[in-house]
Amino acid sequence: MSKYKSQEEAEAAGVYVRKVQSFVKREGRLTKGQALAIETNWDNFGLDFQPEPYNLEEVFGRSAPVVLEIGFGMGKSLVEMAAAEPDKNFIGIEVHTPGVGACLADIVEQGLNNVRLFEYDAVEILKQSIADESLARVQLYFPDPWHKKRHHKRRIVQPEFAQLIRSKLAKDGVFHMATDWENYAQHMLEVMSVQEGFENTSETEDYVPRPDFRPLTKFEQRGHRLGHGVWDLIFRKVN
Ligand SMILES: C[S@@+](CC[C@H](N)C(=O)[O-])C[C@H]1O[C@@H](n2cnc3c(N)ncnc32)[C@H](O)[C@@H]1O
Repeated sequence: MSKYKSQEEAEAAGVYVRKVQSFVKREGRLTKGQALAIETNWDNFGLDFQPEPYNLEEVFGRSAPVVLEIGFGMGKSLVEMAAAEPDKNFIGIEVHTPGVGACLADIVEQGLNNVRLFEYDAVEILKQSIADESLARVQLYFPDPWHKKRHHKRRIVQPEFAQLIRSKLAKDGVFHMATDWENYAQHMLEVMSVQEGFENTSETEDYVPRPDFRPLTKFEQRGHRLGHGVWDLIFRKVN
């Protein structure tokens, strides 16, 4: 079974072809602590890209609802949520290496065993490494907003992406998005409201109050300080 630890490796091997992406890979500084966290803990908590779905019961050594977070940043909210919901299994996907290192260090510090991480493009992981109808919840918190109109095509929330999420959610599973950029919130609402197979859980057919299970993130706190709003959207898979 061929496996690729990073997108660069897969690209070099010719299995990954670059297309319009929701991120630009920033090199960023990897601290010694983050590098060490990856070196020491990847074998236990890291999952490599593979072109066929993982058996998640085997991965976690138990059967439990699986929550998948796309673009977890430094992983603060992912780790907090995994600690608060030990009865669930969590998968985080992030392309930013320092974030992966920071998150691994926190996982180990908190002694969590219900989190696994991918360092890869979430779209490819969902398409190839995650089985259909295997997820209870998908979370996308503060995705890169791509402010400029000419960059809107890079926004990860698009009709095709929504249908990819739908195919991976189990029935009644939910797709939870949050953003502090109003124009992106409107875009999410426009895309999601017309998607077959989803219903909006909002009583007002738009946004929902922040659910208790989502901790305040660094980005959100900054948004609050700047007087910005935050919009949560939760859509349930109905078929
Ligand atoms: C604005 S940050 C938000 C981080 C975090 N969710 C938070 O709220 O603090 C967006 C993150 O998504 C990651 N990202 C964007 N597109 C991605 C993709 N296709 N696969 C994996 N990660 C992605 C970026 O690297 C970045 O760290």
